Amino acid sequence: MLVRIPGVLTQDEVAHCRQVLEAAAWVDGKVTAGQQSRQTKHNLQLGEQSAEARELGEFLLRRLGTNELFVSAALPLRIYPPLINRYDEGMEFGTHIDNAIRPVPGLGVRVRTDLSATLFLTAPEDYDGGELIIEDTYGEKRVKFAAGDMVLYPATSRHRVEPVTRGSRWCSFFWIQSMVRDDGARALLFDLDGAIRSLRGREGDTAEAVQLTGVYHNLVRRWADV
Ligand code: NI
Repeated sequence: MLVRIPGVLTQDEVAHCRQVLEAAAWVDGKVTAGQQSRQTKHNLQLGEQSAEARELGEFLLRRLGTNELFVSAALPLRIYPPLINRYDEGMEFGTHIDNAIRPVPGLGVRVRTDLSATLFLTAPEDYDGGELIIEDTYGEKRVKFAAGDMVLYPATSRHRVEPVTRGSRWCSFFWIQSMVRDDGARALLFDLDGAIRSLRGREGDTAEAVQLTGVYHNLVRRWADV
């Protein structure tokens, strides 16, 4: 399941992030790459322990915590502190799969990467190329969203970032361990939650809406690990 989450950040918030990043020090993106992806990863990243990365990461986590669509789609248990990357002209990231388990630096906890997320921080008209290509069972999806929008996709997917041919593409990226590990089960819950929301919006809390809400929570109880 690939989900677009629009407006995670407002345009003012994107501008604020970009302002912080203008002054930041960037390092080679290979620092967080696995053995295989290191060979195809050609980009820059904000140092994971840098003050800017922490500030922006915490800011983004606060926004995500109150984003109903994100919570419904991801059912997050743990979120890896958001990282920031940058692809200047000629940079790219070849086809790879993200590591399954990520230790969170300094915290002594690990995140099983059920979902990958990319939040766009550059307007699509400001760069050429740089599409995130995600392979799923229906074929390839080409993702290049508005600044402030985010894509959420199963971390089991092979994916790549096309070479940037003009401008510079800035994004935040991170991983989520979901309370519901199975992507199919999570997709069903997301679908059911969406239907219940629109039913309640149209008809109010009818007996059927209450019953369906009960079904939703009982499925979460059955499938969730917390
Ligand atoms: Ni990746």
